[in-house]
Amino acid sequence: MGMQLVLLCLMLMKASSTSANGDGDGDSGCPLGSDTYQYSCPEAEAIIFSWVEQAISQDSRMAASLLRLHFHDCFVNGCDASVLLDDRDDFVGEKSAAPNLNSLRGFEVIDAIKSELELVCPETVSCADILATVARDSVVLSGGPAWEVKMGRKDSISASKEAANNNIPAPNSTVDDLLTKFQNVGLNLQDMVALSGAHTIGKARCSTFSSRLQSSSDSSDVNMQFIESLQQLCSGEDNTNKVAHLDLATPATFDSQYYVNLLSGEGLLPSDQALVNGNDHTRQIVETYVEDPSAFFDDFRYSMVKMGSLGSNTQIDGQIRRDCRTINLPN
Ligand code: HEM
Repeated sequence: MGMQLVLLCLMLMKASSTSANGDGDGDSGCPLGSDTYQYSCPEAEAIIFSWVEQAISQDSRMAASLLRLHFHDCFVNGCDASVLLDDRDDFVGEKSAAPNLNSLRGFEVIDAIKSELELVCPETVSCADILATVARDSVVLSGGPAWEVKMGRKDSISASKEAANNNIPAPNSTVDDLLTKFQNVGLNLQDMVALSGAHTIGKARCSTFSSRLQSSSDSSDVNMQFIESLQQLCSGEDNTNKVAHLDLATPATFDSQYYVNLLSGEGLLPSDQALVNGNDHTRQIVETYVEDPSAFFDDFRYSMVKMGSLGSNTQIDGQIRRDCRTINLPN
């Protein structure tokens, strides 16, 4: 975005926040732009990429964890880095919400990126833009599609544990329940099936797929060999920290194998397998992605851009945090 546009945008934001209806509804925010940091922080994307590259080289699961952070950010009042705020004595953030607690990873990587960016170009690159960029870089570094990340998101000055509990879909959901959560934030069925393909990388804890373990050989659509391997993994007293690959066949490669697995009954989460067993429309889309992996890549990048812009049109009172874990105090 050019400097004039930025100024115009800031003026509009100010006007809308002082108008009678300055409650954040309506198109009062600034559009995301291609060249937001072109002059203010031209090194931003290279700095982010090199940290993501280093983090993944030390821990290949980190690609998945960073991708998921962006999703959990965007589904809760838009992509505004609310997910990164730490709980404090007088502040409850989203990290302790059920879908996030003992589950989200990668906060230290974001801290490292933010620290370097604050040295190179202070108070310029938002934490929300960092999250959107690390998600893209993680996909690319795992062999998936690339897309341009539009920038200019602002960081929130609040968080909502309640919204995190309500908005983020749960792994035992039916397709209808999943769809409701996606539609609530402005995404559709096609986005839902494409974005679920993110489960081509990463891991999940036994507790998130425990209902799959109860599957019996009575149902013809259950892959018992797969279920038995999971039962074995999750057996024993303490399985709190035991995890399984979301995509057993190519766990760290971003490809369309996830959909192949669903067709053979090897979806890990109940919500994954439901895309094939629970709804004809979602099943058809899965079949399309198996036949034509490039259609998955195209749809995934399209839906990531769409998800990454959630909230950007309505956000009026954000800031650029100096530390992603905490709201800036007034100087
Ligand atoms: C469709 C609804 C979805 C449900 C019900 C769901 C649920 C889950 C659950 C339960 C886990 C395992 C968490 C744990 O055991 O700690 C997980 C992991 C993951 N999810 Fe989803 N998810 C959904 C959609 C998405 C979307 C849209 C993305 C990204 C675009 C995504 C990316 C990931 C990734 C990459 C992991 C692995 C994280 C890691 O290994 O650290 N998920 N998801």
